[in-house]
Amino acid sequence: MKRSLGVCYYPEHWPEEIWAEDARRMADLGLTWVRIGEFAWKRMEPREGAFDWGWLDRAVDTLGAAGLRVVLGTPTATPPKWVCDKHPDMFARDAMGHVRGYGSRRHYCFSHDGYLQECRRIVTAMAARYGRNPHVAAWQTDNEYGCHDTVLSYSDAARNGFRTWLRGQFPGAGNAGDINALNAAWGNVFWSMDYDDFDDIGLPNLTVTEPNPAHVHAFRRYASEMVVQFNRAQVDIIRAHSDAPIAHNYMGRVTEFDHFKVGADLDIASWDSYPLGFLEDRSGATDARKRLFARQGDPDFQAFHHDLYRSVGGAAGGHTPGQGRWWVMEQQPGPVNWAPVNPAPLPGMVRLWTWEAFAHGAEAVCYFRWRQAPFAQEQMHAGLLRPAHAEAEACAEARQVAAEMAEAPEVAQTQSRVGILFDYDADAAWAVQPHGVGLSYFGLVFDGYRACRKLGLSVDILPVDARDYTGYDLILAPGLMHLPDDLKAALNAAPGQVILGPRSAARGPHFEIPVPLPPAWPGSDLTVARVQSMRADLEVLLEGGGAVIGYLEQLEGGGDVLLETQ
Ligand code: GAL
Repeated sequence: MKRSLGVCYYPEHWPEEIWAEDARRMADLGLTWVRIGEFAWKRMEPREGAFDWGWLDRAVDTLGAAGLRVVLGTPTATPPKWVCDKHPDMFARDAMGHVRGYGSRRHYCFSHDGYLQECRRIVTAMAARYGRNPHVAAWQTDNEYGCHDTVLSYSDAARNGFRTWLRGQFPGAGNAGDINALNAAWGNVFWSMDYDDFDDIGLPNLTVTEPNPAHVHAFRRYASEMVVQFNRAQVDIIRAHSDAPIAHNYMGRVTEFDHFKVGADLDIASWDSYPLGFLEDRSGATDARKRLFARQGDPDFQAFHHDLYRSVGGAAGGHTPGQGRWWVMEQQPGPVNWAPVNPAPLPGMVRLWTWEAFAHGAEAVCYFRWRQAPFAQEQMHAGLLRPAHAEAEACAEARQVAAEMAEAPEVAQTQSRVGILFDYDADAAWAVQPHGVGLSYFGLVFDGYRACRKLGLSVDILPVDARDYTGYDLILAPGLMHLPDDLKAALNAAPGQVILGPRSAARGPHFEIPVPLPPAWPGSDLTVARVQSMRADLEVLLEGGGAVIGYLEQLEGGGDVLLETQ
């Protein structure tokens, strides 16, 4: 596999006179890729139907002439004002019903059909114009689905779409749907929640107390599906005009949609790695750990996502699970602007992060961004260059990596001996019903991942539709609240050890407690007889040392006991 470097560039931010010099400097630095375009809708289409492609044509030509390969982003994360004025109800609403309006980015609801049509229009125009351009060597759809908490929207469009989707989940005569089947499946007899019609069903927000978990989980599944469909609409259009591979740049710890399902429509998974920002705002690390890794980032956090997206890249098909194509589309180059605090990385960290990604199998690492912008929201965000033309600290590190890559041997993907199953639907189920403060599916899986890394083990993250565990000495499958029979059978047949965890097979398809009681494991009479969550400082001691924290399931039935509570 050939490894390469790249950078994110915004030609529309800079005078055209400096583009050629920028391109020359990028090429001199040893960069191969330059991603452009993903926020430039207003410059591409200043008014409806009035396209201005001249500047983008020249930008692509200038970059291409310097020997760079362009990743062209569709600009649908930043609809211009005229699009929003045309569709005043296209904004998402938060759980309190507030409009998430114009003035930053990701200001759209995935369920809004009018907005989807606008996206189809701009993507069609772009793909038709650049689909055969020899310099456009890859595409990126939109930008960071789900970033800024944008998957769950409580808009009218989402409510209407959810009703239609539910009719499909509970089919009846014609398009009518079977409302009695939904009532039975969700247990709506409880608290007199039975509906007479699908049009009576609202979104699970603004209720007095907890809404029905079956309702909430169904809504999350619907919202995830909307992201898949939104992305697919763009992919279908691009493919009709271009043979270049298509990627999306996913995020760190955004789990509200099924990345494997989005990934199945793409060729490459990529993600945006900001080790210092993520340490502070989403890693879940203790304060002591944050202090320890303040200038390096939590080494397990970016490693986990490298392994996760290597697997998401494999969803495209034709890959061994856990061995797909993946990139880092945005690599932190210095202090960022958006975390609670924004320190500078230690000297050498940008180089180390780059090699770390390659060590996990990345094809390309692109730095965000070429030059620091002196204006607008990200003026405090470092780039490879300072706001004028001088090099910032990371530039020398990127140059060093480029030189080292030229000397380094080619590498190939390989299978790890440990696999961890990761299921976005289980993450949703835990979010709907954590059953204890601080408990999350992501946290549970991440703890297992950390433990493996502490033992020096490489890990493949596997989707839950993988059925062949040949070559794995150990499979971790914690917290899979929905565990279909064929997955149980596959895990039973795994040649290595399998470790389950709390809440395995704990719910049926509509969030009901199944009978016979969980885990109903083939060949075992073990039953989870009682479950409890515990405050973080309430430890249940184990015989011989150690303690259970957070969550405790009391088991009944046969089996060898390895550890027992006191
Ligand atoms: C990413 C985003 C970029 C930029 C960057 C700043 O999440 O895709 O557009 O905002 O963060 O760190």
